[in-house]
Amino acid sequence: MTQEQLSSIILPKHIGIIMDGNGRWATRRGLERSEGHKAGANAFRRICDYGADLGIEYMTFYAFSTENWRRPPKEVAAIMKLFRDYLEEANEREKENESRGLRFHLIGERKGLPSDIISRLDTLEKNSADKKVMTVNLAINYGGRDEIVHAFRELARKAKNGAVNPDKITEEDIADNLFTAGQPDPDLIIRPSGEYRLSNFMTWQSAYSEFWFSDILWPDFTTDDLDRAILDYCHRNRRFGGV
Ligand code: FPP
Repeated sequence: MTQEQLSSIILPKHIGIIMDGNGRWATRRGLERSEGHKAGANAFRRICDYGADLGIEYMTFYAFSTENWRRPPKEVAAIMKLFRDYLEEANEREKENESRGLRFHLIGERKGLPSDIISRLDTLEKNSADKKVMTVNLAINYGGRDEIVHAFRELARKAKNGAVNPDKITEEDIADNLFTAGQPDPDLIIRPSGEYRLSNFMTWQSAYSEFWFSDILWPDFTTDDLDRAILDYCHRNRRFGGV
């Protein structure tokens, strides 16, 4: 995006991305699906850093859903290795003070993830907590409905011990008990790979999001594609139910 374009638009504050199409990308090249995920992880690095350069405040990347455990064990293991490698690399950047100002946050269930990944995530969250350029939500072992169930359980617990009056529960109370508590809802949700669905991504938070779909497979997604999605979004007329 040119400086001129950048100065003439209001950027979305929060962008969510469903990183889809890794498997097809690999199959079309006669490669193992895990190679597609590897290329997908590189696209994630590229788009995450570029989003921060543009001045996006929050980006959420859907990396592994609560349903993805149904994939063949070999593929799940390959994806977990990519998480491990990336978390290691990001922790190293923090240690060397070479971070780009990214604050990392897991949105998803810790329970069920391998313990070494949880501990790498905990370290990264802790060490990047004061970073201000962009918040990166990693949606790993994430499901939108699961997140709502999680919030209901929290609220029910609070109601049981008298901290919350069930008749006074508001939308804000629910939002405050989601993994994204304190964050703005996504303005723009991007799904590449020619699929037109949310697949359990940010079920609560997407109520008024704008959607951008494209046939590009995630490993091929470039910074120009992100520019295109943002510029399209800027021409949308968001009314939030008003006129
Ligand atoms: C969906 O494509 C992609 C996934 C289930 C995994 C996403 C993981 C990454 C991009 C890599 C790691 C990310 C980080 C944060 C380092 P698919 O396999 O469903 O593609 P298909 O629909 O073409 O089969």
